[in-house]
Amino acid sequence: MGLLRVSYQHFSCLILIITSTFLSCGSGMTIEIKISPPTGKIVHGTNAIHGSIPYLVSIQTVHQQLAFCGGAILDRMTILTAAHCFTDRPSDCLEDSKDCYKIVAGEHDLKHYEGSEQTVVFSMSNVVVHEHYDRFHYDNDIALIRLKTPLNLSGYVEPIALIDPDIGHTDRAVIAGWGKNESNSKHDVEILQRTEVQIFSNQHCHNQWGDDYHAETMICAGAPSDSSQELVTDACQGDSGGPLMARSNTGHKRYLVGIISWGYDCGFREYPGLYTKVEAYLKWIERNRQG
Ligand SMILES: *[C@@H]1O[C@H](CO)[C@@H](O)[C@H](O)[C@H]1NC(C)=O
Ligand SMILES: *[C@@H]1O[C@H](CO)[C@@H](O)[C@H](O)[C@H]1NC(C)=O
Repeated sequence: MGLLRVSYQHFSCLILIITSTFLSCGSGMTIEIKISPPTGKIVHGTNAIHGSIPYLVSIQTVHQQLAFCGGAILDRMTILTAAHCFTDRPSDCLEDSKDCYKIVAGEHDLKHYEGSEQTVVFSMSNVVVHEHYDRFHYDNDIALIRLKTPLNLSGYVEPIALIDPDIGHTDRAVIAGWGKNESNSKHDVEILQRTEVQIFSNQHCHNQWGDDYHAETMICAGAPSDSSQELVTDACQGDSGGPLMARSNTGHKRYLVGIISWGYDCGFREYPGLYTKVEAYLKWIERNRQG
């Protein structure tokens, strides 16, 4: 059986470039499908309340305003996202020095200006992609954007705390994004979607994904096991790079535990979505963030 492996980033022109990368993989073949440039949406989510996820930014191209990925605010000058958001670049963004991209913080409805938005343009020279990002297995799918001008913190724009491995967290987490609401959907979302997912044990992730799941660098999360069969919550194309946010066991503070990375299509209970395990990269983040 072939596995359709897709990263959760958005494609602008809906042309699937099948890279014909057939990887021999356990029971069968993995066909790598690249969408270029990237974008994904939350499956079975609901409209977020404006300002309820102030940690999230939309990453867009300047010219086409394509909202292709999400990111998390670590501090006024640093955004954390997925490496694959910047490895398959739109054709008009091949020049490293060109300010081809922008982040929009405080965003809610992509089509309407609401007064809370803050935009900072950037180029590839502001992006640090993990030096060992593996595009075939999505290992080390992590990148930082170093902003040239700082964000102004407000009720709509706030940094998220990195996971503190010592405090523990609940297995319920929230994801959000402007990605597709079902795979290959022609509809683009305008209002930020959010949904709840359950973070599964390494054993469960390994049972579902086999050797594609790398416990040292990945987390898998999907529809809470007590939810109905019909409503399988997940991330999808265009959500890539956005945060997987959990609460600590004590208190209401949100912690960044994962980065939306990849999966098997969108919204299949058998294949829970895969996330970069932020805990494994705390030193990398400290080394590479500025200031
Ligand atoms: C932050 O506020 C200053 C002063 O109002 C403004 O000039 C700047 O553009 C703001 N930054 C962003 C990212 O919007
Ligand atoms: C996705 O959105 C479209 C347009 O709003 C809608 O017709 C479709 O049913 C939605 N799909 C899901 C899985 O909610």
